[in-house]
Amino acid sequence: MSAVPTVRCEAVVDLAAIRHNLRAVRGLVPARVRVMAVVKADGYGHGAVAVAEAAQHAGADMLGVATLGEALDLHRAGIGGRIACWLWVPADTDLAATVAAGVEIGISSREHLAAVRRVAALRPSSRGGGVAVHLKLDSGLGRNGVGPAEFSAFAAAVLEAQRAGEIRVVGVMSHLASADVPGDDSVGEQQRTFEAAVRELAQLGISADRHLANTAGTISHPELHHDMVRIGIGLYGFDPLGGAGPPAAPALRPAMTLRASVALTKRVPAGHGVSYGLTYRTGQETTLALIPLGYADGIPRAASGRAEVLVAGRRRRIAGRVAMDQFVVDCGDDPVAVGDEVLLFGPGGHGEPTATEWATACGTIDYEIVTRIGARVPRRWVGRQTDRTAQPAEGIG
Ligand SMILES: Cc1ncc(COP(=O)(O)O)c(C=O)c1O
Repeated sequence: MSAVPTVRCEAVVDLAAIRHNLRAVRGLVPARVRVMAVVKADGYGHGAVAVAEAAQHAGADMLGVATLGEALDLHRAGIGGRIACWLWVPADTDLAATVAAGVEIGISSREHLAAVRRVAALRPSSRGGGVAVHLKLDSGLGRNGVGPAEFSAFAAAVLEAQRAGEIRVVGVMSHLASADVPGDDSVGEQQRTFEAAVRELAQLGISADRHLANTAGTISHPELHHDMVRIGIGLYGFDPLGGAGPPAAPALRPAMTLRASVALTKRVPAGHGVSYGLTYRTGQETTLALIPLGYADGIPRAASGRAEVLVAGRRRRIAGRVAMDQFVVDCGDDPVAVGDEVLLFGPGGHGEPTATEWATACGTIDYEIVTRIGARVPRRWVGRQTDRTAQPAEGIG
C-alpha cells in the first residue's frame, strides 16, 4: 500500500466504487432499459469528469447534468457519448454552444422550446435532423417541467417544431417527488400523469425514450423503469431509501472519503472554552486537536457539537462551533499528534462515520453533505480502471 499523503485535507474518491454502484443498479433493470448516470453539481461533489468516465466504463448509456455549463464542461473535457441537460434559462447565452456540442436539451416550457427553435434556425442546414430534445413534464413535483394544464398546447408546438426539422424528440422525462418514501401515493399518481402525457404525444406521432425514475424509483418501483432510469445518489453509493427498500436492493459503496490532518494539538485544563461563543468547555484536563476544515470547505456549521470524526482510532464529537476554516476535537488523553489522520466520513469500513451519519447529525441528507464539499478541498481519485496499482481504498485508513 502506498503512503498516505499528509495534506491539510482531501476528498478521496474511489472510482471502483462508482463502477460497482453503476453495475449494481444496472443489474436491477432489464437489459433493454438504458441507464443515465447523473453527474450534475460536479458529480455530486465527486468530480464530474472522473465520475463520468468511470460510469461510462461500467456501461452507463448516457450522462445527465442540470445546467448548460455543466454539459459544456464535460464536452470540453473530452467526454464523448450522449449528454443531456435540463435546467436552463431561455435567454442563456450558452445555449447555442451547447447545442453545437451535440448536447441533448431538456425542454420544460414553450419559452424553452422557442429558444431552441431560434438556435436551430441559425444552424447550418448540414446539421440535419434537428436539435435532440427531451420533453420535461411536471407530473406532480411542482417544479421544473410542463404541467398537465399546458401540456396539449405545448405538445402541438413541439409537433410543429419537429415537422419543421428544428427539433428531434429523443426523450420524454419527468421527476419523482417522493420515491424515497415507501408506499407514498404520489408515485403512482405521477406515473399515471406521465403515462397520459406519453399517450397524448403518441397520438401526435411523437414517441421517444421515456424516463421517470431516479435512484429511489429505480430501486423500489420496477414499474417505473420505462426505457431509461436516471441514477444520481446511488452512483455515489448512498441508498435514498435508507435500507427501507425491497430486499433485493443492491449493496452500494460510498465512493467519497473526506480526510484531513491534525494541524495542532494543545493540552488545556478543565473548564477551557473552545471556538466561537465558547459553547463547549472541557470537562477535565485534556488534549484538543485542531482540524483545518471549516464551513468554507463545506463542513456544515450545523455539525457544531453534533457530528463525529475518527481521530487516533477513536470517534470523537466536534467540540464547539465549526468555524470558516477549522474546528476542534476534544481527544481526552489519547496520544494524538500533529499530522495524524482524521477521517470525517467515508464508507465506514475503518470505523469512520458515513456521510449519512453526518447528514443525520446535521438535520440534512447525504446528498447535501457530499455535494457541498467545497472547491478548496482537493479531490484525489483512486481505483481508476487503468491504474493497476490503485486499490479501491488506497490511502484511506
Ligand atoms: C431530473 C433529475 N433526474 C434524476 C436525478 C437523480 O436523482 P437521485 O440522485 O435521487 O438518483 C436528479 C437529481 O436530483 C434530477 O434532478
